[in-house]
Amino acid sequence: MPPRRRTKVHPTPRSNEGRTKSSAPAAPERLNAATIDLAVELGARAPLRLERPVVVASGPLGFGAEAATLIDLRDVGLFVVRTATLTARRAGLPPRLVEVPGGLLHAIDRENPGIDEVIQRHAPAWRDTACAVALSVAAGDTAELKRLMRKVEGRGATLGIDAYELDLTAPCDALDGAPFESSLDEAARLIDAAREATELPLIAKISPTATSVARLVAHLADAGADIVSISGSPVGFLPDRARRGAALAAGSGRLSGPLIRPLALAAVAEAAQVGALPIIGGGGIGSPADALDFLSAGASAVSVGSALWADPGLPGAIAESARRAAASRGAPRVTDLVGAALRDRLRS
Ligand SMILES: Cc1cc2nc3c(=O)[nH]c(=O)nc-3n(C[C@H](O)[C@H](O)[C@H](O)COP(=O)(O)O)c2cc1C
Repeated sequence: MPPRRRTKVHPTPRSNEGRTKSSAPAAPERLNAATIDLAVELGARAPLRLERPVVVASGPLGFGAEAATLIDLRDVGLFVVRTATLTARRAGLPPRLVEVPGGLLHAIDRENPGIDEVIQRHAPAWRDTACAVALSVAAGDTAELKRLMRKVEGRGATLGIDAYELDLTAPCDALDGAPFESSLDEAARLIDAAREATELPLIAKISPTATSVARLVAHLADAGADIVSISGSPVGFLPDRARRGAALAAGSGRLSGPLIRPLALAAVAEAAQVGALPIIGGGGIGSPADALDFLSAGASAVSVGSALWADPGLPGAIAESARRAAASRGAPRVTDLVGAALRDRLRS
């Protein structure tokens, strides 16, 4: 049980003589960081419980087993596996990843061997994972999505899957390959199809450059999403000056790393003000302080991706730092930090 906040007793001054009147609020009483509750429950319909407010983003750490050798999954609340599709997808031609100032530009090819083989090879690792697991899926249309989900449905517990993440940054057939997130209707249609197919919690993943984030999140909530993850990579392009072509063989690609963080924070704050869905926020988180910024902008949990390659200890450091931040504010739960920047702004 979380410890109760103790009420600070201020000595009552006998007289106001010699005192200046101050409007500054009393500093909150510091709590013992070890007693802070780190758990979050996301979504109202079928809450997804994360023991830590830290999510490993889909992709950079693969399908599961590899991740356990790199990072300590006991420090993580949710591991999102690399995106699976109905049939196998090959990686495109190299170069597929280039460095840009402040981050990476990459072609997310959603390379995977198809859902049957993903399950066969990786489900044993999911069942043994120390944190919750979300299966990330992508499809070009609702029929393909339903066929994909039928292969998983009813087997969530056996397979070790606690939630789905739907990648709305993926290309939509009806939009000639533009991402689902660029159309309120197409994005909502895909979520609606997924909602019909499953009782498991549904996370809708979008990027900060999705169409009108606030309206999109409201549409996703109406269509049946339980959680929105605003942590996807926005589109980027870099010319190859020497070859006069594009730096990536695929032409344009997706951006990850610190350069997308301010964009992501703005989108999180926008969605938080609507309040339609609990938010997993991320994009460019490279330090505990970055993660606290996302909580403060209104995310209930933070997503960490490419930074894990350089700093596998980041999830543990984020959890510890969130604990200390809550303790210093006299807040017994890390969830009390959520949206602090928005509240402070409203107050000022
Ligand atoms: C190598 C690589 C592979 C990725 N693969 C996927 C993927 O399969 N599905 C997905 O939804 N996002 C994928 N992403 C995007 C990440 O999940 C994340 O949204 C993005 O990298 C932004 O977070 P970051 O700046 O913390 O890395 C990938 C990113 C990278 C760098």
